Order: sequence, then structure tokens, then C-alpha cells
Amino acid sequence: MVMADTRGAARRRQLVVGNWKMNGSRAANAELLAALRAAGPWVAEVAVCAPSVYLADVALSLQGDSIAWGAQDCSPFDAGAYTGDVSAAMLAEFGCRYVLAGHSERRAMHAESDQLVADKAKAALAHRLTPIVCVGETLAEREAGQTEGVVKRQLSAVIHTLGHCISQVVVAYEPVWAIGTGKTASPEQAQAVHAVLRSQLMAASEHAGDMKILYGGSVKPDNAAILFAQPDIDGGLIGGASLKAADFAAICRAAH
Ligand code: PGA
Repeated sequence: MVMADTRGAARRRQLVVGNWKMNGSRAANAELLAALRAAGPWVAEVAVCAPSVYLADVALSLQGDSIAWGAQDCSPFDAGAYTGDVSAAMLAEFGCRYVLAGHSERRAMHAESDQLVADKAKAALAHRLTPIVCVGETLAEREAGQTEGVVKRQLSAVIHTLGHCISQVVVAYEPVWAIGTGKTASPEQAQAVHAVLRSQLMAASEHAGDMKILYGGSVKPDNAAILFAQPDIDGGLIGGASLKAADFAAICRAAH
């Protein structure tokens, strides 16, 4: 059993990030963001990760507000013949603060390897974006007792690639079996994995106590507070519920 870092929890400001995935429209986004602006600000830091084509609109909608924004993926390269890809430099130009790296949907549907995810995180940092590196096991891996091995392997590639800069990333633990399924990891299950990740980060960086580790996977208004109360859970990465202003605002309120 890995001990939790209860000392650091008090000084870490929590972060709640909406992952819109491939959803929205210009009109729907404007409505959602106006409702969020009206509902905030919150004690926790809040951000939304939008499809890249909407980033200019999102930047306009959130001008002067405390809600930050980001993208859902970036290229590991700065520029060149990479049809369809978007670079971290481009995202930075649109005021992004965050970019997701290695969401399980990209690992699964775009065959993103641990090393590619690490290279994307590195490209993001080079352009002063904060990568939110996603890790998580599938149901089969959990049932085979491989959860710890899988998430450590995924995080280890990022630690090796970034070196001491690892302290600048946000990590998100998202069990694949909990994403979009309505099945949330129990607070104890989530905390156990977060503690494993925290201790792995501790071994890599003296600043690991200040790093944020988010939980993602069917976070809703009715389970957010108990998840966010765990000592190594520093906020959430929210998919489905981030598309509904009232739900997302309630989740943001549950964080501290
Ligand atoms: P969910 O998605 O909240 O809809 O489960 C979380 C995510 O995939 O980031």
C-alpha cells in the first residue's frame, strides 16, 4: 500500500478541466460559455478543452474571464508536412493554457504510443502550454491485476522524456472502463492509483508534492465532491458532464 501525500494536498489548488471531445457548434459553445461565465468564478481553477477549430471563438468568449482554455491534442512537431495536425505553437497563438496528451481515445483510435504521448507533452511545454497527460488502464488490464504496471509504464515514458520538467505537467488518471460509461472508480480505487502515481512522480521530482493529478471517468455533480476529497486527487477531467453548464458548474463548485 502506497502512502498518500497528505501534506501536499492542502497547498495544491484544484483544477477542473472540461473535455468537450468532438462535440459542440459555434452557437452551442457560445451559450455554454456564457452560462459558465455567469456561474463562476470558483475556488478551483477551471478550464475547457475545445475542438481546435473553435479555439478562436472560445478565446473571444472567455476574454477577461478566469476560465482558461486548451486543446485536446497537439503534434509532437513544430511545423511541416503533417496533414491534418495542429502544432503546440499554433495552439499557443490562440491563448491556450492547456493541451491534453494521450487521452485514451487517442491512444486507442490513433494508436498513440507512450513515447508519442511523451513527445507531444514535450512539444507543448516548449510552447509554454501545460500538457495534461492522461493515463489509465482498460477493464481487461484491471481484471488481470495490471493497473499499476500500466499507468506506471505510461507515466514513465513522460518522465524519461521530460526529465526535471515533469513537474510542469498535469497528470490525469482516467480508467478507460470509467470513461463515458457511467461507471466511476470508487474514491478508494481512484485514490489508490493516484497515490501510486504521486510516489512515482516523487521519485522523479522534488516538486511532485505541488503537481496536480486529476481524476477522470464519469465524474458527475453527485460524485465529484467525494472524489475531490481524496488526498491525492487534485481535481477532475470531465467529459460528458462538461457539456451541460449546470452540471459542469456544480462539479467546479465541488472542487477547492
Ligand atoms: P466522461 O469522460 O466524463 O464522459 O467519462 C472523461 C474523459 O474522457 O476525459
